[in-house]
Amino acid sequence: MNPLNHVAIIMDGNGRWGLKYKNSRNEGHKAGLNTVEKIIKETIRQKIKYLTLYAFSTENWNRPKNEINFLFDLLENFLSKKIEELNKQNIKLNIVGVKKFSTKLNKLLNHSEKKTSKNTRLQINLALNYGSKFEILDAFKKLSKNGDKINEKNLTRYLQTKNIPDPELLIRTGDKKRLSNFLLWQLAYAEIFFEKKLWPDFDEKDYIKIIKKYKKIKRNFGNI
Ligand code: IPE
Ligand code: IPE
Ligand code: MG
Repeated sequence: MNPLNHVAIIMDGNGRWGLKYKNSRNEGHKAGLNTVEKIIKETIRQKIKYLTLYAFSTENWNRPKNEINFLFDLLENFLSKKIEELNKQNIKLNIVGVKKFSTKLNKLLNHSEKKTSKNTRLQINLALNYGSKFEILDAFKKLSKNGDKINEKNLTRYLQTKNIPDPELLIRTGDKKRLSNFLLWQLAYAEIFFEKKLWPDFDEKDYIKIIKKYKKIKRNFGNI
């Protein structure tokens, strides 16, 4: 059975779900939060140590202003309501991506990270304003500025995911088979599951099924 320490998820399909059932993309984002809570619970139950959730990409700034504002309000509400509970559950929150939001949200994110920084049960990496190409370029810039030797180990020290093991498993919901600029370096050897269901319809049963399948895969890493 393959070990599983880190699951990464591209939570896609909220907008389509919202349009289909509530005639509003934003309602889909709201519904998606329930899935986030279910998946966090199951991740803890499975004793997985890292969960990385793609919540907002650098390309998502291209969306209409009203949707962007809605998403960040939703996040702000969710975090300010739930951070106490996450902390009690011994969950550490870590933001990957560039924290360039409203002063209020920046503060809330910093506060939430600081408050939970000593927690050990599960680390949730929330990818917000995250883009993998930017991350890799930025790491190279820092590497060369500091005059470090260019090698794999040194480069990973400058990635936003430093100190986090690479995900063994990537799940993308929402029936699209692409990476959308997510963890391009870190997913080099991940097992990838593309799930037809839209994110708000995805649940712990679907998640467990994928984990079971993942555990049985023969992982070669170039060997035979
Ligand atoms: C993913 O769902 C959530 C974010 C990008 C914030 P989408 O909003 O991309 O949903 P679809 O793909 O349009 O259905
Ligand atoms: C990827 O979904 C980003 C997140 C889930 C946050 P998108 O819906 O933005 O991806 P594309 O644009 O369809 O590739
Ligand atoms: Mg999408």
